[in-house]
Amino acid sequence: MNTTFLPVNPPQRLLMGPGPINADPRVLRAMSSQLIGQYDPAMTGYMNEVMALYRGVFRTANAATLLVDGTSRAGIEAILVSAIRPGDKVLVPVFGRFGHLLCEIARRCRAEVHSIEVPWGEVFTAQQIEDAVKRVKPRLLLTVQGDTSTTMLQPLAELGEICRRHEVLFYTDATASLGGNPLETDAWGLDAVSAGLQKCLGGPSGTAPITLSEPMVEAIRRRAHVEAGIRTAAHRDGDDEMIYSNYFDLGMILDYWGPERLNHHTEATSALFAARECARVIGEEGLEAGIARHKLHGEALLKGIQGMGLETFGNLEYKMNNVLGVLIPDAVNGDQVRKLMLEDFGIEIGTSFGPLAGKVWRIGTMGYNARKDCVMQTLCALEAVLNRLGLRTTQGAAMQAAWDHYGERC
Ligand SMILES: Cc1ncc(COP(=O)(O)O)c(C=O)c1O
Repeated sequence: MNTTFLPVNPPQRLLMGPGPINADPRVLRAMSSQLIGQYDPAMTGYMNEVMALYRGVFRTANAATLLVDGTSRAGIEAILVSAIRPGDKVLVPVFGRFGHLLCEIARRCRAEVHSIEVPWGEVFTAQQIEDAVKRVKPRLLLTVQGDTSTTMLQPLAELGEICRRHEVLFYTDATASLGGNPLETDAWGLDAVSAGLQKCLGGPSGTAPITLSEPMVEAIRRRAHVEAGIRTAAHRDGDDEMIYSNYFDLGMILDYWGPERLNHHTEATSALFAARECARVIGEEGLEAGIARHKLHGEALLKGIQGMGLETFGNLEYKMNNVLGVLIPDAVNGDQVRKLMLEDFGIEIGTSFGPLAGKVWRIGTMGYNARKDCVMQTLCALEAVLNRLGLRTTQGAAMQAAWDHYGERC
């Protein structure tokens, strides 16, 4: 075994891409707490607190509000595999990479997948979605709230009512939007929402907060199946087909988080400490104040980018508060710009995927990094790099435009 590797000591970076971002130091401190046993009353007490805290973050009264261990995709997959029975029809409005991901996961759940698409950079009207619901008659509508690949935010407020009228279960992936953009689980009639810590919540990836409505829990309970080694005479299988995953069986995960404390996985304690601290930080700032902060810094970045003479990507009316798409000017190589930003300034920005790969940079202002100093540093560095590579701008103009924006508001 190689014993010459040095202890982990990552370079200092300012993460201004589409996530992950730098974790709040309070979250890092919480994660370094010593482990305790999973049935220690202190631990089950923390689990109950996490449930209560995330009801606040998701703006819901749902009892079934908990963590799925794994990255955000684990939360998505747990909801989809638990809710979709093989052969169920699902409808997915696709406006970027993460809509395609929902189709992909639903297909693996053996759903009959129907999708509708708009060009990347746009979102759907409620009417377009209702027309498709009427045509397809799905059992579930699977949406993405903020598709980080395009930086667009799909309006969801009217969709719950449409789903209610057509008896459709309504899910959204809020991985990249929760905490930085309004999301009203109960008021918007959502049946399931999943998220991740590594964007606006200011933590590391590794555990996925989710919330489920009563009708969604009932649908999952109809698929109840408790694994052999832990089931008792009191456990009854549901009438519907079992869930075709053990790890992501939300029925069993609910029993683990509920009063029965039925053994399932070993809870990822450090990740739970992180999730708890993320929600506490949000609670102290106030959810609405935090969303307003994301909007302020997102707009300041936009003013700066426009002040630099760069063009943005997508319909700005539907832009997420926390990520901006910037068209890479023809005169420069986008990867070279990102390399210099990282090597000479320690700042990471992102590119995008699929049709936008190499065409768009994505700059995030989220979570712990939705701050004035982060925006100013990023703009100054980007402008300096562009000029170094021969794209002449009025140096300082971008930073001044952002500063003026703050000046008008602070
Ligand atoms: C909207 C959205 N959904 C899902 C994911 C997947 O998350 P993870 O990489 O944490 O599994 C991401 C990650 O960027 C995302 O932005």
